[in-house]
Amino acid sequence: MSQHPNSFRALPVDRVGSTITVPGDKSISHRALMLGAVAEGRTIVHGFLASEDCLATQTAMEALGVSIRRVPGEPVQIDGVGLGGLKAPSRVLDLGNSGTAIRLLMGLLAGQPFACELTGDASLRQRPMERVAVPLRKMGAPIETGAGGKPPVRLRGGVRLRGIDYALPMASAQVKSAVILAALGAAGRTSVHSPGPSRDHTERMLQTMGVALTQSSQGAGHTVALEGPVKLRGIEIAVPGDFSSAAFFIVAGCIGARDGLTIRNVGMNPTRTGLLTILRAMGADIEIRNERGVGAEPVADLLVRQSALRGIDVPPELVPLSIDEFPILFVAAAAASGTTTVTGAEELRKKETDRIAVMARGLETVGIGVEELPDGARISGGRMRGGTVDSRGDHRIAMAFAVASLLASDPIEIGNTAEVATSFPNFLEVAAAAGLNVHAGSDVR
Ligand code: S3P
Repeated sequence: MSQHPNSFRALPVDRVGSTITVPGDKSISHRALMLGAVAEGRTIVHGFLASEDCLATQTAMEALGVSIRRVPGEPVQIDGVGLGGLKAPSRVLDLGNSGTAIRLLMGLLAGQPFACELTGDASLRQRPMERVAVPLRKMGAPIETGAGGKPPVRLRGGVRLRGIDYALPMASAQVKSAVILAALGAAGRTSVHSPGPSRDHTERMLQTMGVALTQSSQGAGHTVALEGPVKLRGIEIAVPGDFSSAAFFIVAGCIGARDGLTIRNVGMNPTRTGLLTILRAMGADIEIRNERGVGAEPVADLLVRQSALRGIDVPPELVPLSIDEFPILFVAAAAASGTTTVTGAEELRKKETDRIAVMARGLETVGIGVEELPDGARISGGRMRGGTVDSRGDHRIAMAFAVASLLASDPIEIGNTAEVATSFPNFLEVAAAAGLNVHAGSDVR
């Protein structure tokens, strides 16, 4: 863990503004490292997110024999070894806090000729891995998970995988991607059916790398299919700003950007931008400018202006398109008049923390009424006071309460913030540039 402040002190402010950029997309950065590693030839990555989660993936790929050059201020270079070129690691692969890293690597490594073990930090060791192990076993992979289906995950390797036809029980990009990555080296056709949308960065990147995927939709569901084994071609990738990091400033802008707040170069993949639809239904004033395609991904600049938000019933079909944004959406709901109801979001209980419970406790501490539901919450907008909130080591909850200082009458002290470095290492700098008054507390980890 780097030296990141393990507490924040967020002082009340009543406005934000200016023009900011947020760091690169975490999901795309993980995929660039993994797919670049198994491609033929060099992959060059501009705008890579050098956060703890992505660095855990880099360290794992290096332990698997891949040479990666990363110099601050320069694009990352990955010398692909091809799907058959990874080497047995000499140690357990520790993926830290990253669910994406461990689950996608399970798929990438399941069909390798060698054995390996994957684990992570105390939070990751509480998260479910059977959702990935089940389809990989159907492909023939010998995999064991730890007690309760959690890490450590042991892959015995040495088995040629076969393609499967698999219906995911939930809309999960991590599970879908793990099966697709396993299918790259498997014999025959694999198709993965999802009951609803989930982020499609894996599909987009693979297509740019020359892999033929077929995709079809059936109502809300969709299917991705490919015929293994395939070869990937090294490419140049420009990683857009992470929509999920921009989300904190989109909500900050809705609450306090009297003269507007511009966020440049934001990834606008439609499987990620459900928060915009939700906030607009709440009355937000968000202008999408300069829409463009950067490689396989859509990008735009966002101009957000302060507006009066109203509580709504969040349509459950928007949940998978905004799954990482609920901590900050709860803050928008606290700022809104009336009640906001979230349902159909039970997956929030299986993220870095139980985000429904941890957000509910935090908001109650600062005076906001929250009724917890099994699959969501009912939040009553109202006056927020200061207080001491424990983010329980969940990066997105820590950043959400930093933005809440736009609503609070007194300082909010936020504990266990070190994990902000997993996704947004320069959050305090960008927050200051936007006009928030958030500082490191005395606790450093
Ligand atoms: C991610 C997928 C999402 C998301 C996570 C990152 C990814 O999880 O919550 O933060 O990069 O594939 P699901 O597997 O639930 O879609």
